[in-house]
Amino acid sequence: MLNGFKILTVTHRQTSLQHIEKFVVTHSDETVLRARLEALKAEFGLAEMMYLATCNRVMFLFYSETVSPPNFQSNFFQHINPSLSEHFITENVTLYEGRAAAEHLYRVASSIDSLVVGEREILRQLREAYDRCQQWSLTADHLRIAMQGAVVAAKEVYTETRLGDKPVSVVSLAIRELLKTKLPNSTRILMVGAGQTNILVAKFLAKNGFQNVTVFNRTLERAQRIAISLNGRAFGFDELADYKEGFDCLIVCTGATKAVVDNQLYIKILAGETGKKVIIDLSVPNNVCKEVVANHNVHFIEIEGLRALAQENRSFREQEVTVANELLDLHLAEFVAAVRNRRIERALHQVPAEMKAVKEYAMNKVFKKEIDVLDDSARELLERMMDFMEKKCTGIPIKVAKEALAKPTSVFA
Ligand SMILES: NC(=O)c1ccc[n+]([C@@H]2O[C@H](COP(=O)([O-])OP(=O)(O)OC[C@H]3O[C@@H](n4cnc5c(N)ncnc54)[C@H](OP(=O)(O)O)[C@@H]3O)[C@@H](O)[C@H]2O)c1
Repeated sequence: MLNGFKILTVTHRQTSLQHIEKFVVTHSDETVLRARLEALKAEFGLAEMMYLATCNRVMFLFYSETVSPPNFQSNFFQHINPSLSEHFITENVTLYEGRAAAEHLYRVASSIDSLVVGEREILRQLREAYDRCQQWSLTADHLRIAMQGAVVAAKEVYTETRLGDKPVSVVSLAIRELLKTKLPNSTRILMVGAGQTNILVAKFLAKNGFQNVTVFNRTLERAQRIAISLNGRAFGFDELADYKEGFDCLIVCTGATKAVVDNQLYIKILAGETGKKVIIDLSVPNNVCKEVVANHNVHFIEIEGLRALAQENRSFREQEVTVANELLDLHLAEFVAAVRNRRIERALHQVPAEMKAVKEYAMNKVFKKEIDVLDDSARELLERMMDFMEKKCTGIPIKVAKEALAKPTSVFA
């Protein structure tokens, strides 16, 4: 029943992120991407195809009853990137077929297969990928049914399980700790470092309405980029020692391997203030020296504690996967029924035309001689009877099939 459904995929589970890039369909714009996908679909005779690329997965979902592994995988990805060797492709690509393909799609949509279980972003990416391929006429009935089922199942997993309940990123946990301090949105925040982690911190600060952020970084341009996103100010790291405006919260996160905020520097940026300060240090190793924490009035939020909490929350999410899988099993059973129903519906579409053909064959060939000798009223009666029979007989298989389809199905084909 599900044999035509297939997924070819490369994910963070079996390969490194750098390797995943090699399987991406490169393109300069949407027109080029469309043309490349259309060419792939035509080259491999795929009835339907959908393509998803994220930073940790490349996935082709397609419907084809003729594709046969193992050469298919190599040929397919060599068409995308001719520099890939057969060995490299075999090592990194997984092919799912039939029920396994449906299961994988449902697990991806529900974020069970994600790098961070419970991250809902994948569902949005999947839907956008489908919408795009559908607009480009790369998909049809089969993938429509598969995607509809996957979206419904994923939404139920997100609402009925606690898969995404507890934050698992140290940055979101740090901001949660900051919010617990009840500092107002106007609180004076100094941010030291402007790398990837602090870019994320800045997004969370903006989302929570913090409006008074000053960024210091070795490379001024990076500090400026973050400051612009927060309507804040930016300075070079060297200028931190001369900063005289005081602060309420200090967020430090750089790639330095020893403390960049020592006691001497800290006293300078205190600018004579004595109130309690919040310090968030997300660097590994810590970038705020121990002396600062020991000698001053601070609420210290540091990465080790947050990491432990993140791990605890990750384990919690993993436990919820069992519940999610049980839900997905129910939805997969519905998917099989939906595919079967659609197949029967498509087959039944031919019934009226077939019935009409039988009637016309009987009237114009088999019984032609006998009909030709009938008078007008007899011929008219016969035609009316034949029309009546055609109509009634056409309805019978449709009625029977509808009754059969209404019965619940839970067995996988
Ligand atoms: N990425 C994560 O998911 C994550 C999560 C938690 C903690 N961390 C930790 O956060 C720290 C930063 O990670 P990241 O991913 O944000 O790094 P990143 O993107 O490489 O950025 C590093 C930042 O640190 C600055 N920096 C590097 N060496 C410095 C030095 N000696 N003195 C002053 N500034 C220096 C860089 O300044 P320039 O712009 O001038 O180069 C840049 O702003 C690391 O300790 C990491 O372990 C990362």
